[in-house]
Amino acid sequence: MQDSNVVEIPSVQNFRRRLREDGEVFWLQDDALAIFDPQTAQQVESANYADLTMLDGFSDVIRGRASEPMSWHQVRAAWLTQMRGLADAEGLRGLAGRMQRLLDAELGREQDLVWLAERAMVEPLVATIIDGLSPRAHRRVVREVMSKVALVLSDVDRHRCPPLHKTRMWAYQFIVGLEVRRELKGRAHGTRPRRQDLTDPMVDLLPGLGLDRAADAVTALLTALTASPGAAAACLFYEWHRQPAWRERMVEELTQVPEQALYASPVRAAPATARFAKEVLRIWSSPPIVTRRVRTDICQGQTELKTGQVYVLSSFFIHHDAGKWSDPEAFDPDRWLAESRERCPHGSYVPFGWAPKSCIGANLGLSQLILMAHLLATRYHLRVSDPERVKMVIASVVRPTDFAGTVARR
Ligand code: HEM
Repeated sequence: MQDSNVVEIPSVQNFRRRLREDGEVFWLQDDALAIFDPQTAQQVESANYADLTMLDGFSDVIRGRASEPMSWHQVRAAWLTQMRGLADAEGLRGLAGRMQRLLDAELGREQDLVWLAERAMVEPLVATIIDGLSPRAHRRVVREVMSKVALVLSDVDRHRCPPLHKTRMWAYQFIVGLEVRRELKGRAHGTRPRRQDLTDPMVDLLPGLGLDRAADAVTALLTALTASPGAAAACLFYEWHRQPAWRERMVEELTQVPEQALYASPVRAAPATARFAKEVLRIWSSPPIVTRRVRTDICQGQTELKTGQVYVLSSFFIHHDAGKWSDPEAFDPDRWLAESRERCPHGSYVPFGWAPKSCIGANLGLSQLILMAHLLATRYHLRVSDPERVKMVIASVVRPTDFAGTVARR
């Protein structure tokens, strides 16, 4: 990336250099293969996760017995079914309401806009995962999730995040584990109501899954919120600020969309904004690098991997490959127009990862970004204190830095 406004941490720079010198698939070390070719990445991911039998539950391990075999695919399938209800008009209206309440509470306060975007995206999602908790239990879950977000951001912006207490984080995690178990047990025994959230399908799977693995699945969901979604929102704020022509276009579109149509289908109701959000996810995809342990010997064409080795994937470098994309460094939402589709190469757009471990919240995430743009267009002004200082950082996640400012009421 030539842009002097983009800062890369040394390991990302190293990947970039090796990619230039050695091509799309290369050994980083004796036991670590970098795979930046989209087709190979997809084939290797499919082979590595063909068997997704879950590990035994903790209490079975302690008792020296095997848990009932259960595939992660079954858990994912249950979530994907439930997701339909969460991303429908009512679900999105609720989500937008929670986002708005959070931003309203921050009106006029000068702060780090990355942190604000993270909070506005991630905190409202907690109720999507586990709803109906007491206010205290809900606050505990939010605190745990946001402390993990702060940990992710602390790779570069230590001074900008709320203070991190790593020992306390263990305690937070333990407490959240207890809250999740209590909720699962309560729903299973009928002492707590069933809910329209992603915890609920785990209640039906409890007989095979067991309490340990059901609780682990819910906490895995909460952990999945701590990297990509908030970073995407921060990058949306950044491009919203940096692209005045697009901002105008979106304000025009979003101020005319009836709310009912927006919640029924954000992508259909606001197509230009949807293209903008898709382009944000292309040009600033997080995490830029993912590392996988090889779970089974893999032989895919020229690529051979042995169990225990490691491979590295990157949606970020795939999205910036000039061999696949026309002018990949240009922020151009109109590349997503139907008539431009040949400019978006098949298999090379992977902001939500690779099957069979791709994001289960892809539709909800994209919708939420459009709802965020809707709030920015109709309710708030985003004011950046010192636009000259803002830079993008490619680190654990991709996001702006030195991005301070306020949201004010329109
Ligand atoms: C714009 C928003 C979002 C983005 C950009 C995003 C991105 C991603 C990416 C890149 C992965 C794959 C990570 C990897 O390969 O290691 C992933 C996985 C995952 N995401 Fe998302 N995500 C978003 C929103 C959500 C939401 C809203 C939820 C749930 C409510 C969610 C739940 C998950 C889960 C559970 C996984 C792990 C899937 C598995 O291991 O089988 N994500 N996400």
